[in-house]
Amino acid sequence: MKAKEIIKNIIDDFDRSCAAVTSSEEWNEVRVRFLGKKSAVTALMKQLKEASPEEKKALGKAINDTKAYMERCLEEKKKEAGRDEQKKLPDWSLPGRGQIPGKVHPLTTVRCQMEDIFIRMGFDIKQGPEMETAWHCFDALNIPETHPSRDEQDTFYLNKKNMVLRTHTSPVQIRTMLEQKPPIYMIAPGRVYRNDVLDASHSPVFHQVEALAVDEKITFGDLKGVIYAFLTELFGPQVKTRFDNSFFPFTEPSAEVYMSCFCGGKGCSVCKGSGWLEIGGAGMVDPEVFRAVNIDPERWSGFAFGFGLERMAMLMYGVPDIRYFYENDLRMLKTI
Ligand code: PHE
Repeated sequence: MKAKEIIKNIIDDFDRSCAAVTSSEEWNEVRVRFLGKKSAVTALMKQLKEASPEEKKALGKAINDTKAYMERCLEEKKKEAGRDEQKKLPDWSLPGRGQIPGKVHPLTTVRCQMEDIFIRMGFDIKQGPEMETAWHCFDALNIPETHPSRDEQDTFYLNKKNMVLRTHTSPVQIRTMLEQKPPIYMIAPGRVYRNDVLDASHSPVFHQVEALAVDEKITFGDLKGVIYAFLTELFGPQVKTRFDNSFFPFTEPSAEVYMSCFCGGKGCSVCKGSGWLEIGGAGMVDPEVFRAVNIDPERWSGFAFGFGLERMAMLMYGVPDIRYFYENDLRMLKTI
């Protein structure tokens, strides 16, 4: 076989072996096999002695080139392996990732703050079922069959006859008044459902905080005083309240409750320039409601109100979109 062919075979063999190397042991084996004392290249060197001077020159160069080529390839392979090895090793100098502690959801925080304020004012915390009878949710609250809030568009009706997903927390007023005699001072925070649009300020599932006070000689002044005390406790002493006339079948008179906006009444994008933010409905318990639960409206009077919990939390934390509360995006949960 001619020397040229032998060299070509050696290089082919080397290329294949070198490409298959996966560990430093294999790398060393290849190095010894192709460049060591017993290698094919060393054997060729020995042949040099018998060659003619011209052949010697050409063959010597070919052998040296081959050795240099193999050395370069092996060096390259070593670097490559080193890089892979480094990739696998952790960088011990990096700062630790730390533990991300769990946190209370912003809606829970606001609910607890509200509960604390009302507990201090002597109110009890009550709960009612989210699957409610139409009687508790509507009839007992003087909401006639023809009232728009009973419309299919607003109420989620359940398969069971006369059962609904409660559209407000007011049925807890009814359950409490059926359960206990006045005086009653209660609040009921909870989830409510409305078959409504889903946008930045509406969600089909949201939360309300209901309040009910029933005692002798409860007046509209008590209602205003309690709401004012509550809002200034929650948001600070600079808060002003405003009551606008309204209508609810279960309160008479009824009011829409507003608080002064954080812009200080100047008007901003949150209050849409008005300086006021609507936070819920309120009023004096309608005598019809007392009759439905066998409480004597001649002796007892009461006030009630229902505020939107998300609305409060949005105002408190400056959250621009109600949907952020339910998406569990860590960026939102971490900052609040
Ligand atoms: N239940 C009413 C609503 O969902 C709010 C309200 C509660 C109004 C109590 C008056 C008294 O809009």
